[in-house]
Amino acid sequence: MSNIILEVNAVTKKIGKRNLITETTFSLEKGKIYGFIGPNGAGKTTLMRMMTGLIRPTSGNILIDTFDLQANREKALSKVGAIIESPVFFEYMTGRQVLRNLSRLHPTIASSEREMHIEQLLKTVDLHTRGDDRVRTYSLGMKQRLGIAQSLLGNPELLLLDEPSNGLDPMGMRELRDIIFRLRDTANYAFFISSHLLDELQQMCDELVIIRNGAIVWKGPTHQLVQDGQRLEDAFMELMLS
Ligand SMILES: Nc1ncnc2c1ncn2[C@@H]1O[C@H](COP(=O)(O)OP(=O)(O)OP(=O)(O)O)[C@@H](O)[C@H]1O
Ligand SMILES: [Mg+2]
Repeated sequence: MSNIILEVNAVTKKIGKRNLITETTFSLEKGKIYGFIGPNGAGKTTLMRMMTGLIRPTSGNILIDTFDLQANREKALSKVGAIIESPVFFEYMTGRQVLRNLSRLHPTIASSEREMHIEQLLKTVDLHTRGDDRVRTYSLGMKQRLGIAQSLLGNPELLLLDEPSNGLDPMGMRELRDIIFRLRDTANYAFFISSHLLDELQQMCDELVIIRNGAIVWKGPTHQLVQDGQRLEDAFMELMLS
């Protein structure tokens, strides 16, 4: 069986006369954490929006677990969870109510199993002791973790996170990192994470995908780009200047 969860095939995105993404092809494997890096405006969010079906490619196609995102949208999207912009919740609800509400959008979860599934998700993101408090009382890190729980509702195999550690303090980042490691190791999830925090990505990612001006300029195992003792920041700068 193939280990590939997502394939981007010759994808481009043009708006007006501008090429936001020039022809791009790559694939992602299950059980790996990918870091997605590139300067501001390089096209990270644009590509991630296409990978989650929020916008259409101008040409090319995207397969998720072999299902074409255009032709077989529902099946393809059932395998993906994502936080593309910071998640927005109804602040007056409790974390549990938020998840309960959103779980109705996932018909695959039997209603008899819903409460157990939600309890499990609250545990996964370390919110089980705060699940009955209103979101209004949550810290940024807790809201971010509730966002992760939300993206896990449909039991996806791939999670796309666009700058998930934005604004988190070191403790919040560590908690997020621990959750991501746990999910990769126990559930064989794949993660595709964009961030400007290169030290953080260096610690966390098995592989890196680097984008500049709408084109992938490097992809491969982290240790191939960053030699022993080197910082990703330096390797990245070198690549950008070359
Ligand atoms: N709907 C749109 N119409 C026109 N241009 C757009 C649109 N969406 C994005 N762009 C442009 O596409 C380019 C890539 O933007 P994108 O948000 O994908 O970059 P990014 O890599 O996510 O940057 P950042 O690191 O700042 O989040 C930018 O020049 C942006 O202005
Ligand atoms: Mg962005």
